[in-house]
Amino acid sequence: TAPFILSPSLLSADFSRLADELAALAAAGLTWAHLDVMDGLFVPNITFGPPVIAALRRVSSLYFDTHLMIERPERYLAAFRDAGADLICVHAEATVHLERTVAEIRRLGAAPAVALNPATHLSAVEYLLPELDMVLIMTVNPGFGGQSFLPFCLEKVRTLSAMRRERGLSFRIQVDGGVTPGNTAALVAAGADVLVSGSAFFGHPPYKERLDVFHAAAAT
Ligand code: DX5
Ligand code: ZN
Repeated sequence: TAPFILSPSLLSADFSRLADELAALAAAGLTWAHLDVMDGLFVPNITFGPPVIAALRRVSSLYFDTHLMIERPERYLAAFRDAGADLICVHAEATVHLERTVAEIRRLGAAPAVALNPATHLSAVEYLLPELDMVLIMTVNPGFGGQSFLPFCLEKVRTLSAMRRERGLSFRIQVDGGVTPGNTAALVAAGADVLVSGSAFFGHPPYKERLDVFHAAAAT
């Protein structure tokens, strides 16, 4: 199977010790951290925003994979970029002028990505694929960690991967929600390059060993 990046979702980390958690991830050989920003409107939950990310930026050089689950994310792109987001992922469902939002992320110097909820068709992002560094296929309805993987989303990953191949593009495909060692092989085989894992990762320290479990699962 192809190599993949594991991006641990800090939503399942210990929020009282986030700096330690980031240090532990880096020490375990992880290179990405998935930051779930929720506004209580796009999703029924609230997490953290630019000030917390800025504080974490001062103590970590991990790649900040910033997943904005917020309405009208265009209002806050500069704030997230200034806080230290390396990649900014907006939901297609949350912004009316998606192309303009993506172009603005690029202009700010961050990597642009678009996320699709489980019920959103790939056509929502199809025309923009050449402009994107990553597409996030949600494999649960966003809002909470620890939900079960929705199997029908696997087909979307396959279709998107075929589209990428046919069009000679190189954006990454990320999956987020209910990812476990048990579905890792299927996701990687379907074409996913970046796997987000919250509860199935942080619930099972030590992190180096847990990363090895995901890699071993992909090889089976
Ligand atoms: C869901 C978030 C995910 C979540 C994943 O709303 O976008 O990143 O933290 O958590 P698990 O891996 O537990 O489903
Ligand atoms: Zn996420």
